[in-house]
Amino acid sequence: MATIINSARDAAQALEAASDVLGAGFPVAIPTETVYGLAADATSAQAVSRIYECKGRPRFNPLIAHMADLAMAERHVVFDPVSRTLAEHFWPGPLTLILPLKTDSDVHALCTAGLDTLGVRVPQGFAGSLIAHFKKPLAAPSANTSGAISPTTAAHVEADLGDKLTLILDGGACAVGLESTILKVEDGVIHLLRPGGLDVAEIEAATGLTAQRPASAGAIIEAPGMLASHYAPVARVRLNAADVRADEALIRFGGTPLPGESAARLVLDLSPTGNLREAAANLFGYMKRADASGARAIAFGPIPAHGLGEAIRDRLERASAPRPSSAPRS
Ligand code: TXA
Ligand code: MG
Repeated sequence: MATIINSARDAAQALEAASDVLGAGFPVAIPTETVYGLAADATSAQAVSRIYECKGRPRFNPLIAHMADLAMAERHVVFDPVSRTLAEHFWPGPLTLILPLKTDSDVHALCTAGLDTLGVRVPQGFAGSLIAHFKKPLAAPSANTSGAISPTTAAHVEADLGDKLTLILDGGACAVGLESTILKVEDGVIHLLRPGGLDVAEIEAATGLTAQRPASAGAIIEAPGMLASHYAPVARVRLNAADVRADEALIRFGGTPLPGESAARLVLDLSPTGNLREAAANLFGYMKRADASGARAIAFGPIPAHGLGEAIRDRLERASAPRPSSAPRS
């Protein structure tokens, strides 16, 4: 079983222990402001391959390289002016930029899955300190079995991957609760590859540019990990529910009861006051609770489309997508 160290309370001990495990080429589960990451030395083939192995992840799925700061990122990728503006504005924070990889970068090809671009992000808080201490970029996907819901607490990580890991750092519940927003700038045009924890409206305000969204959800495949069916709980997921059916758990938004909910297995409200940031932070944890209630299906009440609602609805659409019958879920 994994050792768990509280990185908020025992930061020095957590830094040392994590650096030891990372230096030996093994992954460590770390808190970030978005979701918990399964981090390993991005320059080591062995370390990165252990991430794929631990998650049961398809091989050709590139990983985000997490950097201590912009200066570290600049040693590995080439910034265009718009991407630089975005990095200066939003790092550290829930923003990943896909940029051309420098030929002399020592980030391993297993991390980029052989692409000539690299996804880079500077995380907030303890994760940033750990990377600065380790002095190398950390490859880190979300710390969950491939296809399952992303973890937003150390307990989620322990329940899913505890027997495959030696060390989990516990930094408390993730403040954002949704994965980073992923952008790729080409010829001065911002392309949104994955809506996430940074609101697109903030990106547009900071640059004065309009972000281009893919024509359809299926087109998001440009970020190769954006499988249509993802973030899947075991229970079926029903969106935009106007009422609650027998044997369902209800997850609603905005404090308004739905017809039939007194018979629900469980009723949770993502944000009774209608705050989308609070809703994002609660989303994955509530999905896990609803799943654990044993309900046949999870009904979701309507979620507004603006602000972080876009990323929340994206995750819910993936959670409700038809699944291959053999898809591993946990
Ligand atoms: O908030 C986050 O982004 C979290 C935390 C741990 O930082 N990480 C995360 O990683 O969500 P992951 O591996 O679950 O999702 C990364 C996404 C995948 O869809 C992957 O295909 C895409 O980023 N990606 C990575 N490198 C890429 C590249 N060079 N080009 C296009 N897409 C890329
Ligand atoms: Mg993930």
